[in-house]
This record gives sequence, structure tokens and C-alpha cells, in this order.
Amino acid sequence: MDKLIVEGGNRLSGTIRISGAKNACLPILAATVLTEDECVISNVPELKDVSTMINILSSLGKKIERAGDTVKVMAGRVSNVVAEYDLVSTMRASIVVLGPLIAKYGRAKVSFPGGCIIGPRPIDLHLKGLRSLGADLKVEEGYIVASAKKLKGGRAYLGGHFGSSVLATSNTMLTAVLAVGETVIEDAACEPEVSDLAGFLTAMGADIEGAGTPTIRIRGVKNLAGASYRVIPDRIETGTYMIAAVMTDGCLFLENARPEHNLALIDKLTECGTLVSERADGVEVCRSGAPPRSTHITTLTYPGFPTDLQAQMMSLLTLTDGISVITEKIYPERFIHVSELNRMGANILLEGPTAIVKGVKDLSGAQVMASDLRASAALVLAGLVAEGRTEISRIYHLDRGYEHLEEKLTAVGANIERESE
Ligand code: EPU
Repeated sequence: MDKLIVEGGNRLSGTIRISGAKNACLPILAATVLTEDECVISNVPELKDVSTMINILSSLGKKIERAGDTVKVMAGRVSNVVAEYDLVSTMRASIVVLGPLIAKYGRAKVSFPGGCIIGPRPIDLHLKGLRSLGADLKVEEGYIVASAKKLKGGRAYLGGHFGSSVLATSNTMLTAVLAVGETVIEDAACEPEVSDLAGFLTAMGADIEGAGTPTIRIRGVKNLAGASYRVIPDRIETGTYMIAAVMTDGCLFLENARPEHNLALIDKLTECGTLVSERADGVEVCRSGAPPRSTHITTLTYPGFPTDLQAQMMSLLTLTDGISVITEKIYPERFIHVSELNRMGANILLEGPTAIVKGVKDLSGAQVMASDLRASAALVLAGLVAEGRTEISRIYHLDRGYEHLEEKLTAVGANIERESE
């Protein structure tokens, strides 16, 4: 298992090119099951989760070629409708093949995803969405066994206990595009990744209105054709490097980023005293010189502050001169990074779904353990400013979601290396 060694103290400055969005790519790749034609997807990052989705599609019988950031899914039908436990258990997002399989082939068998380190993560909203279109779903021997003679458009209300769900909205949309008649998804997730999936489906010939708002209207079509599509830039990778610029008292231009996808973060960083300049080809983030000020954060569904940047923002807030309150409304248990940050000298108290962060003057390098993708990113950020050496083990989590992290950070002045354990 690899680990990352970070020597803290370097200011970051320069340009980082933002990769394609992992969370947009995964459902877009799954959507290729809906057609027998060739699809070409570009701006696909080289990440473990993307390889897992490609492996699932291959296991279903799709032929796939990858060259650089372009993935070509060849023309042809799937030969199998089963997504096996071994693959699905390594990535929850695999569940998003369920919708396209039932929509196109009338049946599917997909391993039931388990919980994960960030919380229980139920799939009731996925099942509700698909059932509202007429799918018959049973759970047998750890698998969701789905069948449908004929899918018919309907109303799918997808509001849950914690708001909307990106992947439940995506799964329902992926099913409705080939159902007979009109489907209306209410309390749909508004995240840019949902709009990007709708963009790809529309390029394939789907009839979708309202993606990016809480009401999505889909009129089913008989067939979808192949399409070429470029995936949006990753707003969470962007946000992570924006925070890195502030923490290291640096100045970074994030090329390709779409600032309009990070408005909640820009608002909070501005409140902390950062200078953020939005440009047509990216976003520039520079610290104003003074230490960042404390602020309060509540994670919410889009366009609220994203849960996927909560851990990284917590790293930043450990070094302000006041008290910050962070409340997690999407995954109330997503605080596994708190104890690791405290090992580095942070002063964070956890009270249920709320973390109270009392700013400290310095962090000090330590041996820490990565536990999930975004918590790992938070530890890297802390390592960049800590005094001395930070060793982060179990970094395979980072490889799921950050393309060429060490190379990108090294190129802007960080001292970070990968070592094999
Ligand atoms: N939820 C339900 N029932 C469901 C589905 C979700 O109650 O059927 C709840 C969850 O418990 C949670 C909330 O709804 O409170 C949203 O969670 P969900 O599990 O639906 O998230 P997701 O759509 O599966 C995507 C991202 C996550 C990101 C969340 C929230 C992908 C592949 N994943 O997951 O990304 O945290 O939305 O924005 O799009 C990450 O990239 O590190 C990551 C975890």
C-alpha cells in the first residue's frame, strides 16, 4: 500500500489544470448501456472509480477503449445484465447501472451496495424512483433483482430525509428516458453532475427539461443513439485546490474550472478574507496576506455548501484565529477526519453532526491515516501547512477521486512524494 509524505511549509503558486468530474463521468458512462451505438466520452479523468465503472461495463459485455482522457464505448448490446458483488462492493456509484439495464433490457441484477465509512447511505430513493416507473424490484441473496415488462412514465417524488440524492435522481432519469410517456421527477437533485448527465442523454436523443432544477420533466423516446460528449470539470477537485491556495498563503489559477459551480465555497472563502477572481477560463484564488478568518459552514444539497468539501474546509478552519462551527446535513457521521486532524494539533470538538473548530496557530506533521476520499484530501491540505513531515497512509482512497494529485501539487511548489509501504 502506498503512502504520501508531505513536508509542510511551501507556498503554492502557479496554475493547476482541473480534470473532468468523477461524479459526472460515472453516470454518463453507465448511460452508454442505453444505446447499441458507439459513444465517445472525453475529459474523463484517470481514476480508480472510473476504472471500476469501465470494468462493470466490460463485465456486462460492452467493449471499451481508452486513449488519454477519451473513452470510447463500442457499438453493441450487453451480453449480461448482472453487476457482481466484487465490483459493486468497491464503489457504491455502481448502482447507477441499474436504471439503464432495466430501461434498455427489461431486467437487471445488481449487487445491493453496503454502507460505507461516511455513513449508512440507503438506496430507498433509487428503488422508489424506479418503482414509480413500473419496475418490479426484489432483494434476493444480496442482489437487487429488477424486471419490467413495460416502463411507463410517472411522477417520482425523490425528496428524502437528507434532501435530494444525486444518484437516485440520475438512476430515475436514466430509466425514464426510454419509458413510455412523461415522467416528472420532483425534488430532484440540482447538482451540476445531474445537468451534465442530462446533457449527454439529450445528445443521445433524449427529451429532458429542467435538469439543474428540482423538477425534471422527461418524455420517453423509443431509442437512443450514440453520442460524443465532453464531461464538465470537477468542482470538488477545484474546491480542494482553492482551499490549498488559501491555506498555504499562496495564489493558484485553476484552469478550466467553472466558478459558477463553486459559489458556496467562493462565498465562504471570501468571508474568510480570500481574494477570488472568476474568469472565463477558470478561477484564481489568492490569500490576502492576513490569516484567514473563522466562519460557519452547513453542508447542504446544491447550490449549498457541498459535503464533499466539508473535510477540506475543516482543515483550513483549524488555522483561523476564532471559532468555526461546521454542521453536516448530508452525512451526519462524515467526521472521520476529525481525530486525525486533532493528532496534527487541531482543536476540534465533535457534538453529533456538528464540529466546533477552535483555531490554533500551527499544525504539526504526524503519521495519519486516510479513511475516505475527501478526508484524505483534508489530511494532504493539513500536511502542506504543518510544521515538519506528515505521512499519510492508505492513500488508495485519494486515487479514487484526485487525478495526478502529487504531480499537480508538486508543479505548484508543494513538497509531496508517494512511497510504497
Ligand atoms: N439518501 C437516502 N436514500 C437514498 C439515497 C440517498 O436517504 O436512496 C440520502 C443519503 O443518506 C444522504 C443523501 O441522501 O444523506 C445523499 O446521499 P447519496 O448517497 O444519494 O449520494 P450519492 O448521490 O450516492 C453523490 C456523490 C457523493 C456525494 C453525494 C452528496 C457520486 C458518485 N457521488 O452520491 O460523492 O457526497 O452525492 O453530494 O456522485 C465523493 O465524491 O467523495 C462522494 C461521496
